[in-house]
Amino acid sequence: MTAVGASLLDRLATLEEQGLAAIRAAADPDTLEAARVDFLGRNGQLADAMGSIGKVEAEARREVGQRANAVKSALTEAWEEQAARLADPDEAADASAFDATLPARGAWTGSLHPVTRVIDEICEIFQDLGFSRVEGPEIETTWYHFTALNIPLDHPAADMMDTFYLDDDIVLRTHTSPMQARVMQDHEPPVRVLVPGLAYRRDSFDPSHAPAFEQIEGLAVDEGVDFIEFRSSIRHFVRKFFGRRAKSRFRPSFYPFTEPSAEVDVSCTVCEGSGCSTCKRTGWITIMGSGMVDPAVFEAVGYDPEKYTGYAFGMGPARIAMVRHGIPDMRLLYEGDVGFLEQLS
Ligand code: DAH
Repeated sequence: MTAVGASLLDRLATLEEQGLAAIRAAADPDTLEAARVDFLGRNGQLADAMGSIGKVEAEARREVGQRANAVKSALTEAWEEQAARLADPDEAADASAFDATLPARGAWTGSLHPVTRVIDEICEIFQDLGFSRVEGPEIETTWYHFTALNIPLDHPAADMMDTFYLDDDIVLRTHTSPMQARVMQDHEPPVRVLVPGLAYRRDSFDPSHAPAFEQIEGLAVDEGVDFIEFRSSIRHFVRKFFGRRAKSRFRPSFYPFTEPSAEVDVSCTVCEGSGCSTCKRTGWITIMGSGMVDPAVFEAVGYDPEKYTGYAFGMGPARIAMVRHGIPDMRLLYEGDVGFLEQLS
């Protein structure tokens, strides 16, 4: 490099360094404009340096000229950036804080509530057996809620202690069973329906109770439906839902709307029957109340009890979700803590 060329390159380097520093340090538009005039102005330092290029030895002139242009671009770009930053400090800060190399955060996806998933699965299993899915009102008359189901109004179930009364003969349903009567009134046999929905009771909110909770009602009515069909349908459901190894048993029970009535238990899926806290050391978990439809219910809805027979059942999908996931406290399912619920997906 020739002597004049080298000294001009040095001067350009210093000018670039000082110019960038002055432009970037400008904290307000006036200071920035002064820096621009000083370095990039028509009579500024860069123009002055460029005016000397003609004195550079011919063989070095091209290189020095290119360098001068590069300095001009760098200063101009820095000036534009600083002007934008001063015009909109927030946006400029955001842009400079954005780091495209950081790993992405996991995307948030919604999912169905575990109780909803249990309901959907149960409905699908029974769909294979010819059951369709229907829904009904949460506010019921005492006729559908009690009378049609063969529950006398002085029965303990009709007591104010259990039932929310909205009026003398209007209640919030405590179970989905009144839909049995509604469906039978609207349809001639054969009837095979599953009715998921909310039920309400004057219960405390504790590890095994919620004042509002889901139930699923099942009803099958036709000529010749017998206890054997009833048992085999329930067994089919238990195996499909809880797994092939799950056993089921029927225990005699009592409900006013079924005769005979039975409680259905499944072998505990947590300990497989050997006894644990989920099954309270019994090896069995009760999953539904059930039975053969009482002829009195057929009479109430206008079905001929001599001609038709049927079975009915009612289960609590929240309890079933608790068994499935080994959840000790029902409140965990209803408190809406996404951090908890996400673990069950
Ligand atoms: N309704 C009952 C309850 O809430 C459950 C039930 C029992 C429903 C037996 C039925 C049944 O259909 O046959 O406890």
